[in-house]
This record gives sequence, structure tokens and C-alpha cells, in this order.
Amino acid sequence: MSLHPETRAIRIQTDRTNEKEHSTPLFLTSSFVYDSAEDMAAAFADDTLDVNIYSRFSNPTVDEFITKIAALENAEDGIATGTGMAAVFSTFMTFLSKGDHIVSASAVFGSTHTILTKYLPKWGFESSYFDMNKPETIESLIKPNTKLLYVETPSNPGLDIIDLSYVAAICKKHNILFVVDNCFATPAVQQPINFGADLVLHSATKFIDGQGRVLGGVVVGKKELIQQLYLFVRNTGPSMSPFNAWVLTKSLETLYVRMEKHASNALELANRLQNHPKLSWIKYPFLPSHPQHEIAKKQMSNGGGILTFELKGGIDSGRKFLNSLSLLSMTNNLGDSRSIASHPASTTHSKLSDAERAGVGITPGLIRISVGLEHIDDITDDILQALARC
Ligand SMILES: Cc1ncc(COP(=O)(O)O)c(C=O)c1O
Repeated sequence: MSLHPETRAIRIQTDRTNEKEHSTPLFLTSSFVYDSAEDMAAAFADDTLDVNIYSRFSNPTVDEFITKIAALENAEDGIATGTGMAAVFSTFMTFLSKGDHIVSASAVFGSTHTILTKYLPKWGFESSYFDMNKPETIESLIKPNTKLLYVETPSNPGLDIIDLSYVAAICKKHNILFVVDNCFATPAVQQPINFGADLVLHSATKFIDGQGRVLGGVVVGKKELIQQLYLFVRNTGPSMSPFNAWVLTKSLETLYVRMEKHASNALELANRLQNHPKLSWIKYPFLPSHPQHEIAKKQMSNGGGILTFELKGGIDSGRKFLNSLSLLSMTNNLGDSRSIASHPASTTHSKLSDAERAGVGITPGLIRISVGLEHIDDITDDILQALARC
């Protein structure tokens, strides 16, 4: 019987133990035992054997989480990491060698930007950036040593969207690995592998957890690529903890319904805030005014849970807006059942110059709302009263 992804997210489970548990158990163990010295020797002799040795290498709870995400992303296999950044960094370190070149969208998460500009050059990797709004410039950046092309779509925090099939065709033509950070959409909304991506990664800390409890990361793709990543993670240690995997695998059971509600709340909020006199613009992938709305509709099943708007009063208005909120949380996480407001120009990106901020799509009055699962009227009322005060 071929099951729908929503059903698989609920029903994939580690083999039932003799205890006959219904809900999935947590295998909180650092290592595993053997029936004989010969079995133990065999487990260590071959890196590709499907046998648990030590939870830095593999663990049944972590494997259940990986199997579910791989199924949802239509991928052959995956690896899980302690954080989203460990997933990003492990991907770069596994597939790049000294002298290799990366082409990346400039609109990527701040710490990914820092890895590309501060750390990778120390080891002889170089990178070039393109503007997500000008995908026609990508090909001119490709050099003989280009190994990997990296995008986030929708991007954080600018909500820029790129045509995955278009970029995949360029990568295929030049034999480059196409890596997509699918954190904002989640596999419930967008499956980049279906559009030609080679590897898809996530910060599982966001919508995949969905309640702001644990950190986690995951990368999925073809078996032969994942085997290389697996050996990197197994040997260098950024592995996911079984406890976090247990929280995340339970969260996946509700991912589809949560994403539908995040998206319907976000679309309704975007519609209610359109034409508000205190805002210069509002951006949401499923609003027709979004510059890449047609691409969003082609590759996403809904607009996701994040929207952004620009306050007319710039940085000062941004601070006032945050200080005036009473329901929405002032925090830098996203993808929670609780609605969250953040103002990148005065917080995460405050150390950049105006020009640098503009380069990564952050304007002075940009507010990012991670729309939660509360009643839409309560979310709207809080935002409207805060807008009235700034
Ligand atoms: C798009 C995106 N990628 C990666 C990360 C990094 O994830 P983590 O915080 O789990 O390391 C984040 C975190 O906000 C993110 O938004």
C-alpha cells in the first residue's frame, strides 16, 4: 500500500519492542551491546553495516526521525545533526576540497553567511554571491572549480524565492551539487528534490520542532551522497542527541496540520495588513504582490508561516513596534506555535552597515513575523495596536 506523506509522517516507527508500546520509544543510550565478540568485531569491521554501535554513529530514535524526513522529502536517505548549522557546515566540509568554489545566494541565514565569508576562506574555499532576484546572473559566476550551489527558498529573513527547476538545470549542466536549505517551507510545503535538488537540509529547530523546545538539523538526498556525509558526522561528532530526535519525530506527526494552520493564519494576517498606512510594503509568498508569487505557487503548496513588512519609520519605529507588543513574543527563533516578532536591523544584523544590510535584503524598518497557531484575531489585534503606537 503506498501511503500519503502525511500518513507516513505519523506511521513510520522503530520496530515495536517486546513491551508492545504504541507511541515511539526513546532509545536514550550512548552505546549498544553484542551477543558475541565475533559480532562486535564484525560491527566495527565494516562502516556500511546496518548495526548500532554507538549513538554518535547511529541510534534507533535518530534513525526514525531521519527515515520520516527522508520519506517526506522524497529522498533516499539522510543524516541528522545537533543543530541546523551543523547540517550546513557538515555539508560544506564533506563535499568541498581545498581550492573549490561555491556559488551561493547572498540572501542566506546570517551564520551560513559567516561560514562562507569568515571560515571557509581560511581553508582555501572561495565563494561568489548572486542576487536571488537575478537568477540569470548565476551562470556567469560558475568557474571550472565550482563544486556546489547553495540557496534558501524562501530566504531568511527576506522571503526571496528562486525557481528550483531553473537552478537545478544549471547545476546539472555544469555538474555542480545543488544544495537547498528548506527550513522556511518544510517538506509539508515544498520538496526541492522533486525539482532537481541533490541535497536538502533543515534547521529542525524551527517548524519541524514547532514548539521552540530543541535544536536539530538534518540533510537528505541520494544514498551515495548521504554515505559520505554519514562518515563525516560519525567521525567528527556533530550528531543529533536521541532525546532531541524523539521530540522531533513526535513533532513530525503534526507537521502537516501545523503548517496548514501557520499558512492560513499568515495569509489572513497578510491580507488584513495590506494597505496599512504605517507600512511601506508587506511580503508573503502567497500574496499576488510578492515579486516571485508565480514561482511560489509552482513549487510550494502554501505560503508558509513567515511574513515580513517594512515600517515607514525605519529603525526607531522597529524598536517601538517590538516594545508595544503584548501577545507576540520578542525572540529570534521562528516556526513556533507562538507568534514571534523580530526586527533584524536592531538585533541579529545590527553590526552590519546600512549598505551591507541592504545587500542581504534587510531594510531599516523590516519586521519578520513568524505567525503562530493562536486565534488569528488575537494575533492581528496585537499587531494593529503596536502599529498604532509607532
Ligand atoms: C534558514 C535557516 N537555516 C539554518 C539555520 C540554523 O539553524 P540552527 O539554529 O538550528 O543551527 C537557521 C536558524 O535560524 C535558519 O533560519
